[in-house]
Amino acid sequence: MKKTILITGGAGFIGSHVVRLFVQKYPDYKIVNLDTLTYAGNLENLKDIENETNYTFVKADITNGEEMYQLFEKYNFDSVIHLAAESHVDRSIADPNAFIQTNVMGTANLLNAARKNWDGKYDGKLFYHVSTDEVYGSLGSTGFFLETTPYDPQSPYSASKAASDHLVRAYGNTYHLPFVITNCSNNYGPNQFPEKLIPLFINNIKTNKSLPVYGDGKYTRDWLYVVDHARAIDMVYHKGKQGETYNIGGFNEWQNIELIKLLCIKMDEMLGREAGESEKLITYIKDRPGHDRRYAIDANKIKNELGWEPSVTFEEGLTKTIDWYLTNDLWLKHVTSGDYQKYYSNQYIHN
Ligand code: NAD
Ligand code: TYD
Repeated sequence: MKKTILITGGAGFIGSHVVRLFVQKYPDYKIVNLDTLTYAGNLENLKDIENETNYTFVKADITNGEEMYQLFEKYNFDSVIHLAAESHVDRSIADPNAFIQTNVMGTANLLNAARKNWDGKYDGKLFYHVSTDEVYGSLGSTGFFLETTPYDPQSPYSASKAASDHLVRAYGNTYHLPFVITNCSNNYGPNQFPEKLIPLFINNIKTNKSLPVYGDGKYTRDWLYVVDHARAIDMVYHKGKQGETYNIGGFNEWQNIELIKLLCIKMDEMLGREAGESEKLITYIKDRPGHDRRYAIDANKIKNELGWEPSVTFEEGLTKTIDWYLTNDLWLKHVTSGDYQKYYSNQYIHN
C-alpha cells in the first residue's frame, strides 16, 4: 500500500536507523525525514540512502507550529513516527528549557497539525510516539517496568517525555486521534552521539582519556541494540493495536561498572592493547544529580502479542558497535569538534 510517512528526528541516532529500515524495506512508502539538525542531528548518518527515490529530507523545527501545519498540508502525511527530541539527561539538568520546548511543545505542535490535517477522517492514519522507559522513574533492586506502571519521571528529560506521552494519550482520548506509544530502554549502536555512556566511553578508551563513572557506578540500565529497536518500531507500526502502549527492552540488565569493565576488556582485545590497560582509565567522579538507580523493562507484551524479540546478543552488538566507532574515524572527528569540546569541558572538567 502506498503511504506517506513523516519520521521526525530521522537524522539522529535511533531515527536514522528507523529511516533506513523503512526506506529500504518499503519502496512503496514515501518517507519524509523532518529534522532541525541540532548538535545530535547528522545527515552523514543517512549518506547511504540519501538518493533513494522514496526518501525526502526536510529541515524544519517542530517547535514552529505554523510550519508543522504547512508541512502537513503540503505532504498529506498518512502517519507520523515521532522521534525528534532533546534526548540527553545531563543536558536536561544543565538546561531544561530546550527539553520543554522540543519534547512538550514540539509534540503538541505535531499533534495539532495531525489533528487539523486529518480532520476526523482517521482511516489509515496513525500517530506513533517514540518514548522512553525513563518516564516510569527509578526501580529498587527488584521489579520491572510494565506498561501499567504509573509514571514517576525524575529528570527534566524524563518529565518532558512523560508530558509528551500524556499529550498523545489525551489527544487519543479527547479527539480520537489514532496513536500508539512505545517506551524503550537504553539503546546503543552505530551513530550514537558520544555523550551517552557507551559511545562516550568507546571514544575515550580509543583516545586514552579518563572514563568518568558517576557516583558508585552501581546504577543499572537495560541495553538494546539500536537496530532491534528499529525492528520493534516497524512491527508496532504495522501490527500494534491503536491506543496501546508497548514496552521495548533488551532483557539485558547491566550495572554501569560491569558494563564499563566489559567494554575495556573488549577494546583491549580489539585495539591489540595489553589486558587491563583500558581499565586503568576508569575514574569515579561526582554523581549525576537525581540519578535514577535502576531501569528494567518487562518487554513480554510486545514479545507475546507481536512476536518481537531482540535479534542481536549483547556480545555481538557491542562488538559491532566498537568496530563501527573504530572504523568511522571521520564521523567521530566531525561530531567531536567545535561545540562538543565546550560541552565536554562544562560537563566533565569544570563540574
Ligand atoms: P538523538 O538526540 O540522537 O536524536 C534526536 C534528533 O531529533 C536529532 O536528529 C535532532 O536534530 C532532532 N531534533 C531535536 N530537536 C528538534 C526539533 N526541535 N525539531 C526537529 N528535530 C529536532 O536522540 P535518539 O537517542 O535517537 O532518540 C530518539 C527518540 O527516541 C527520542 O524521542 C528519545 O526520547 C527516544 N528514546 C531514546 C532512547 C535512547 O537510548 N537513546 C531510548 C528510548 C527512547
Ligand atoms: P546515559 O547513556 O546518559 O543514559 P541514561 O542516563 O539516559 O540512562 O547513561 C547511562 C548510565 O551511565 C547512567 O546511569 C549514567 C551513567 N554515566 C556515567 O557514569 N558517566 C557518564 O559520563 C555518562 C554519560 C553516563
